[in-house]
Amino acid sequence: MSHSITSEVDDASAHPSSASLAPWAPDSWQQRQALQQPSYDDPDELARAGAHLAQLPPLVTSWEVLALKQGIAAAQDGKSFLLQGGDCAESFADCTSPVISNRLKVLLQMSLVLVHGLKKPVLRVGRFAGQYAKPRSANSETCDGLTLPSFRGDVVNGQEFTAEARRPDPQRLIQAHAHSALTMNFVRALIDGGFADLRHPEYWDLAWVEHSPLAAEYRQMVAAIGDSLQFMETLAGPVTSFSKVDFFTSHEALLLHYEQALTRQVPRNPGWFNLSTHFPWIGMRTAALEGAHVEYFRGIRNPIAVKVGPSVTPDQLLPLIEVLNPHDEPGRLTLIHRMGNAGIGSALPPLIDAVKRQGRRVLWVADPMHGNTESTSNGHKTRRFDNIRGELDQAFDIHAAAGTRLGGVHLELTGEDVTECLGGARDLSESDLDRAYKSMVDPRLNYEQSLELAMLIVRKSVGAKQSG
Ligand code: PEP
Ligand code: CO
Repeated sequence: MSHSITSEVDDASAHPSSASLAPWAPDSWQQRQALQQPSYDDPDELARAGAHLAQLPPLVTSWEVLALKQGIAAAQDGKSFLLQGGDCAESFADCTSPVISNRLKVLLQMSLVLVHGLKKPVLRVGRFAGQYAKPRSANSETCDGLTLPSFRGDVVNGQEFTAEARRPDPQRLIQAHAHSALTMNFVRALIDGGFADLRHPEYWDLAWVEHSPLAAEYRQMVAAIGDSLQFMETLAGPVTSFSKVDFFTSHEALLLHYEQALTRQVPRNPGWFNLSTHFPWIGMRTAALEGAHVEYFRGIRNPIAVKVGPSVTPDQLLPLIEVLNPHDEPGRLTLIHRMGNAGIGSALPPLIDAVKRQGRRVLWVADPMHGNTESTSNGHKTRRFDNIRGELDQAFDIHAAAGTRLGGVHLELTGEDVTECLGGARDLSESDLDRAYKSMVDPRLNYEQSLELAMLIVRKSVGAKQSG
């Protein structure tokens, strides 16, 4: 099969705004250029789906959203650490019990490793219950002479290369909301029901550590967590559950018709909330100052994040901060830098300096995944564990040298035993990738690689503090 990609012309870059801002409304983004949106062929069908969605109950509540904002404010002060992770793209087909519970388990275990090692609370944020829209580098894809719209995630169209599947279908907006609600419902029930029974050692899968230089450290840590739990239970009785507000959701708020329909006002809390998720973020490709996404985000009260890639300059970043957080509100703005292991050393310091010079309050988070994607000779998209680790290590060092703080990590991971990223304790090679490559879009860390990375974060962070 021959694939060719048409180039996208709509990747505009940010320019400082001179115009003063017009009044905001949930649909004021429609006056701006909206990148990365599908072309729906029937505007009435889209309007009907939007109206239906606007009637459906929200997925999260305003008080949860505000609790997360407070949590992020605490992370900005160094009092907690943000762990944000999950699939690159969720799919409707993966809305199943094992996929959801394994993903929750690995995130929970990573967070316990971090709590134990960093000696501070961890804010747990999943990339789930709504991560159904993907930006693409091309609007269409050509295969064997047939040109069809690109796959933009299950909320837009189907992945199969047929005209029927690739047609952007407004009904999928409703389906995405339903699948998000199913995911949310199961996650909430698992957490409420004492899902993580840490007293059972088999809960902690130890098979992988034999392959790791971190084996002794990992075993010690699992034993220590068990001891602490026993100590707590001796004092206070059985620890049966984690509190419901302990897990938050996030997704890239890319498809603005969907986000608009879930933007709501609530009794007793002024303003507008995006109640499709606690913590929406703006992707790297849609962060133009004058663009529709920034317009939409400036008006919602959620804590928000912006992905910051290597081409962003201080002159672009500062006006963006001004528009998105004009009053320097604590907890409001997180910057997720995703520079690549090779680029972070030169790209990040000028941005940190500029934000520091302006005295702006942000939470700095590292995404060591998206700047480290490469293709293997047999056509798999992959990432090397060493590059992921290398970018994270550098992120800790660069912030320590600048007198700022790396306050969290943003990872693509799964609880499944996939083989998508190279390296790690089992040293996965290119030939291993054929065995269990399942991602629809970007390669994810598997269960073992995720836990190993959590341990390395602790080691690096504690080490950076001791030497700094
Ligand atoms: C993503 O998080 O899956 C993504 C597309 O990231 P970015 O916007 O940083 O490229
Ligand atoms: Co991705």
